[in-house]
Amino acid sequence: MFDPTRPPGPKIIAVANQKGGVGKTTTTINLGAALAEQGQRVLVVDLDPQGNASTGLGIEADNREFTTYDLILGDAALSDVIQQSDTDNLLIVPANVDLSSADMELISNEKRSFLLHDALRQHAIDTYRLDYILIDCPPSLNLLTINAMVAADSVLVPLQSEFFALEGLSQLMLTIREVRQTANPNLRIEGVVLTMYDGRNRLSQQVEMDARDNLGELVFETIIPRNVRVSEAPSYAMPVLSYDSESKGAQAYRELANELIKKQTRAAA
Ligand SMILES: Nc1ncnc2c1ncn2[C@@H]1O[C@H](COP(=O)(O)OP(=O)(O)OP(=O)(O)O)[C@@H](O)[C@H]1O
Ligand SMILES: [Mg+2]
Repeated sequence: MFDPTRPPGPKIIAVANQKGGVGKTTTTINLGAALAEQGQRVLVVDLDPQGNASTGLGIEADNREFTTYDLILGDAALSDVIQQSDTDNLLIVPANVDLSSADMELISNEKRSFLLHDALRQHAIDTYRLDYILIDCPPSLNLLTINAMVAADSVLVPLQSEFFALEGLSQLMLTIREVRQTANPNLRIEGVVLTMYDGRNRLSQQVEMDARDNLGELVFETIIPRNVRVSEAPSYAMPVLSYDSESKGAQAYRELANELIKKQTRAAA
């Protein structure tokens, strides 16, 4: 229920694309770290049974007693599921393979699409004074991704700069429209961000042109380059912003954070 004494909630962004390996997790981690670096308080919710965001932010497998699975089922307190990462201002709800059974288990639950929505709106979340919640979705348009879209204010779509990149986008857009028509009329598309861009590669340039032609202003000006430091960082369990602060990848994610914040200020004006 609306409570005028309650502070405005954090902005919730689902990072989604049903295509595998396009940079969802990398973008969640590093955009999160870049926002946190600017003093924003960020919670990453790992909504993928692969648990890559958790690993990438240094939450080891045996330190995941309480996970997103417990969060959505409401059988653990927020203080149990939310962990501090090694980066200041960056918190995480980790995930593991437990989450892979959620789809089946929830089939008969009437509120199955709203579980994450409700979990992220419980009063206890106010104590974390969050500015952003970033949800790292699995590579699928399953019930978990639907939960993310129902919970979110907007969807951020990483698009890998390679052949067939735009294929599948129409399916994703259709799903967003369906969620809008049913459960979450205010769901917006935050934007599409080109990832793993190689400026020397004609194909990357072509994908960028196609994306800008077809999607116009939805495409972020910031482009994330292919950068080996970005791909090395997770094996050191840290965002690239900590692993190699001056790398091209770190700088690009800082730029993306700035563009996101600016956009939001514009929307609020
Ligand atoms: N800018 C980049 N430069 C170099 N490598 C990158 C970059 N972005 C992502 N990668 C690498 O590409 C692979 C896929 O990235 P990532 O895991 O973020 O994709 P994903 O969409 O989350 O995948 P999945 O669909 O399996 O969840 C990873 O090995 C990652 O390290
Ligand atoms: Mg991932």
